Amino acid sequence: MRPFTQPAAHPAAHPAAHPGADAVADPLAAPQPGSTADTVPRVQPLGLQDLDAVLAIEQGAYSHPWSRGNFSDALASGYWAQGLWLGDTLTGYCIAMRGVDETHLLNIAVKPDAQGHGWGRYLLDVLKAWSLEQGAQWLWLEVRESNHRAQTLYANVGFARVGLRKAYYPSGREQRENAVVMSLALKAAPAARPVPEPARPA
Ligand SMILES: CC(C)(COP(=O)(O)OP(=O)(O)OC[C@H]1O[C@@H](n2cnc3c(N)ncnc32)[C@H](O)[C@@H]1OP(=O)(O)O)[C@@H](O)C(=O)NCCC(=O)NCCS
Repeated sequence: MRPFTQPAAHPAAHPAAHPGADAVADPLAAPQPGSTADTVPRVQPLGLQDLDAVLAIEQGAYSHPWSRGNFSDALASGYWAQGLWLGDTLTGYCIAMRGVDETHLLNIAVKPDAQGHGWGRYLLDVLKAWSLEQGAQWLWLEVRESNHRAQTLYANVGFARVGLRKAYYPSGREQRENAVVMSLALKAAPAARPVPEPARPA
């Protein structure tokens, strides 16, 4: 996760430069045998109307959550912002920014009571597929040094640790925490996994 700063006016962040940003093809969402409308995951663009549900997840998932304004700024900037829905329930989301030949993951979270069932990995697979469609070569992210769970997930998906940003995140009172910088070479990345099965209601 990246601590939120006002998005830079990056040309690639403008929706007009992102024809695919509003209609990401979800390569993994093929319905499973026996699945129902409530268990087939849908990945679709987030809108302002989703921010109550997004904030409920964000505040349960992070010690230092993004604010509503951070999310609305991200949407206004045309960042790739996708929600994962199981039926009517927002179960997770992922926000990323397109650069010249890379995609930068800004935020990913799964509803606390749905974590550990493969949805984080699934969202990363969707992000990888979209990034490849956009012609990106690399995926980049920062993660708190103490967030071993997320680092395990990223390593399993094929990310390598490439650096450390000292005192990058706010932590306790007047304290800061380092960020581990990780990157993934998209063309060499392991293949996506199938949709988590069974798809558990959140
Ligand atoms: C990080 C997060 C998005 C992962 O989503 P998730 O749905 O829980 O993760 P998954 O179920 O897809 O697990 C993927 C991998 O994470 C690892 N993992 C899952 N649960 C774990 C746990 N309790 N402890 C350690 N590792 C765990 C596993 O290695 C798993 O790999 P596998 O699929 O090869 O078994 C989610 O835990 C979350 O929202 N955390 C809070 C917000 C956050 O930290 N975001 C990342 C900021 S950089």
